Amino acid sequence: MSKKSILITGCSSGIGYYCAKELKKRGYEVFATCRKQKDVDRLKVEGFDSFALDLNSSKSIKDAVKIVAEKTDEKLYALFNNGAYGQPGALEDISREVLKEQFETNLFGTHELTSLVLPMMRKQGYGRVIQNSSVLGFVALRYRGAYNASKYALEGLSDTLRLELSNTDIHVSLIEPGPIRSDFRKNALAKFLQNIDRENSPYKKEYIKKLHSLQSEKDAPFTLGEDAVYKALLHALESKMPKRRYRVTKPTTFFWFSKRLLSTKLLDRLLQKVE
Ligand SMILES: NC(=O)c1ccc[n+]([C@@H]2O[C@H](COP(=O)([O-])OP(=O)(O)OC[C@H]3O[C@@H](n4cnc5c(N)ncnc54)[C@H](OP(=O)(O)O)[C@@H]3O)[C@@H](O)[C@H]2O)c1
Repeated sequence: MSKKSILITGCSSGIGYYCAKELKKRGYEVFATCRKQKDVDRLKVEGFDSFALDLNSSKSIKDAVKIVAEKTDEKLYALFNNGAYGQPGALEDISREVLKEQFETNLFGTHELTSLVLPMMRKQGYGRVIQNSSVLGFVALRYRGAYNASKYALEGLSDTLRLELSNTDIHVSLIEPGPIRSDFRKNALAKFLQNIDRENSPYKKEYIKKLHSLQSEKDAPFTLGEDAVYKALLHALESKMPKRRYRVTKPTTFFWFSKRLLSTKLLDRLLQKVE
């Protein structure tokens, strides 16, 4: 195989940007896609092969896959489904439209993109699909219901996909990060302010705290840099036996074991304590 190619979503900031940079340095042919044209332009100036991919638009997804197929002669090695956002707010305050929007980006767009890329991987006989899930893909926290639901769904989708592809050389891996330094909190704050009616909510008081934590510059306990996710991504890309799940950060490991060892009642008590 010549230079390995990888398509990454959500490269404007955070994990996607970091991984695109590092993989490019490592010699990969990186397609560093962004939702907004201004970020595409910025990445191009930085020397990336970048073009638009908005997960909320089927047209944008199809256009991007077409570009990838042309550039790689239909031989894409890997897809890193990274682009997503968190919609904070108590479930009672999440409208149908806002929940739909959360799923459009974090699940439906990701699914559509994966389905369009898989034929290339099938044709060449190998490939890697790596999903950036979350610790919130297997444990729930208050005021993160929409995001929780989208990441639980991504886990279900990926588990099924892995089973369906088990007779091929296409590997599906889930990365499950806990807190990682990125623009995630800033982007979640914008969604919180935009979509949640805080004044008329039964959670009005709790939202004051929530707003404070979303605006805080201070890292959550056990926060790691984007490099922690990159390490897992690299293993998923380069190991002959990529793992099905990569648990990144101490909270992820802790809650993974807690979920296995504790009853739902005890786990709930533990999760209630997390702000
Ligand atoms: N940071 C954490 O603590 C953490 C923990 C667990 C999992 N994760 C996961 O890690 C991944 C990357 O997040 P991050 O921490 O790096 O946060 P980030 O800095 O906010 O990056 C998120 C990226 O997703 C992009 N995105 C949002 N909506 C999109 C859409 N419709 N189409 C295409 N791209 C879109 C954003 O683009 P715009 O700039 O255009 O909005 C941005 O490039 C996400 O899947 C997130 O769920 C993060």
